[in-house]
Amino acid sequence: MATIIRETEVATGREYLSGLYAPVPDERVAADLPVDGRLPTDLDGIFVQNMPNPAFDPGAGHSWFDGDGMVHSVEIRNGRATYRNRFIETAGLKEDRAAGRATYVGSLALPGLGKRHKNTANTDLIWHGGRLLALWWEGGVPYEISLPSLETVGTFDYAGTLDRGMTSHAKLDPNTGEMYFISWGTKRPYLSVGVATDDGRIARTVDIDLPGPRVQHDMAISGKYVCVFDFPLAVDLREDAPALGFKMTPMPSRIGLLSRADLDAPVRWFEAEPCYMWHVMCAYDDGDDFVLLGVRTHEATDVDAEGKHRGDRPLVDGEHRFDSYLHEWRINTATGAVTERDVDDALAEFPRVNDRYMARRQHVGYLALVDGDAPTLRAKGIARYDLDDYSRQDVLFPEACYGYEPCFAPKMGATDEDEGYILNFVTDSERGTSELWVTDAQHFAQGPVARVKLPRRVPPGFHGRWIEASKYAEKC
Ligand SMILES: [Fe+2]
Repeated sequence: MATIIRETEVATGREYLSGLYAPVPDERVAADLPVDGRLPTDLDGIFVQNMPNPAFDPGAGHSWFDGDGMVHSVEIRNGRATYRNRFIETAGLKEDRAAGRATYVGSLALPGLGKRHKNTANTDLIWHGGRLLALWWEGGVPYEISLPSLETVGTFDYAGTLDRGMTSHAKLDPNTGEMYFISWGTKRPYLSVGVATDDGRIARTVDIDLPGPRVQHDMAISGKYVCVFDFPLAVDLREDAPALGFKMTPMPSRIGLLSRADLDAPVRWFEAEPCYMWHVMCAYDDGDDFVLLGVRTHEATDVDAEGKHRGDRPLVDGEHRFDSYLHEWRINTATGAVTERDVDDALAEFPRVNDRYMARRQHVGYLALVDGDAPTLRAKGIARYDLDDYSRQDVLFPEACYGYEPCFAPKMGATDEDEGYILNFVTDSERGTSELWVTDAQHFAQGPVARVKLPRRVPPGFHGRWIEASKYAEKC
């Protein structure tokens, strides 16, 4: 289990700079896009996806995670689609533009090679309190993005009440307007939980006592609990380590539950099998049970002393590989008993649910089916799970076509959890063309009802959202 992931300065992440992943240089707007099939008229809003897109040739230690944030969007109104893409104009990107080159080094660079930890805002997007916020996986201050233009408004620090970073992925309870988020770092407190209210302020920040710095990426909320993790993927604090060197340490995983009703109460920790997990699908309360679903990896692979990839599975950032499978943890909060199991043997990532059901019992989930034969992390299709029996339906992409996270968009006036569409970009790696696929979630296995032809290749991205037009636009 214990695996030292990184010992030498070898990886470049350049696998994620060419071909399918090559960054796009320009910003475009294209209306009335051609469509194979028929765009639903019960969708009225905009699909936005965040992704890394280096504006300049990256410096040392570049990782896929380091590229400048770029948002690609498809707005669907009255059965017509409009594409836009735009850089997130972060302070770091402005420094680079002024210099005419990349002035930061990547997260895999060793010390002394240049400026580190550029807040690229490239990871997730979330609508909260009337704003679209772009979040960065390391934390930092969110950037507000205007819709539908994708123009960067600037940083948004919750009227000065955000005193720590806000890490992707924040979790919004749509019933209360509360958005929970984590902050993490290499100094104490290694982890904290914050609560933002939809009037634009941070209501609470609670420190979580961890034995050391951990790589934190996701969290969960149910009706009763905020869920945080103490997984054995530590930040490498050696002086000669890269900015974000990771190392697996031989210890169990712990799942921590905070009471949403009393955040001052001590965190209750529950021990689980060693693992790591980048992304949660969902969590919910089931009587005394707290149920957590996510894509869990048993171990992280490494590179050998020569810097060669030892495994035959996709690398995530140029040097780390995580083989993830949909996994269920069930924690009995009365007895402390933890039961867990892989619920499928399909390689998976980027799980999602209908965000309107966040913190409630959820019955349907979606994820990307990872191509285990590809040299980089990419999906060969998407899947829908019935979360009551874990039965699965697949939509596979054509040969040489790849995609990423499936995002759920409710139909206008929807009353059922799965009454909506799955939206995801699909890119043909040979032709260099991209489409937006629109799949009816209630007739998932039938495949997309519409394939929107985009005016350019969209590189593989991280996370996306559907924002209803009623939130950002005048009626048209
Ligand atoms: Fe993520």
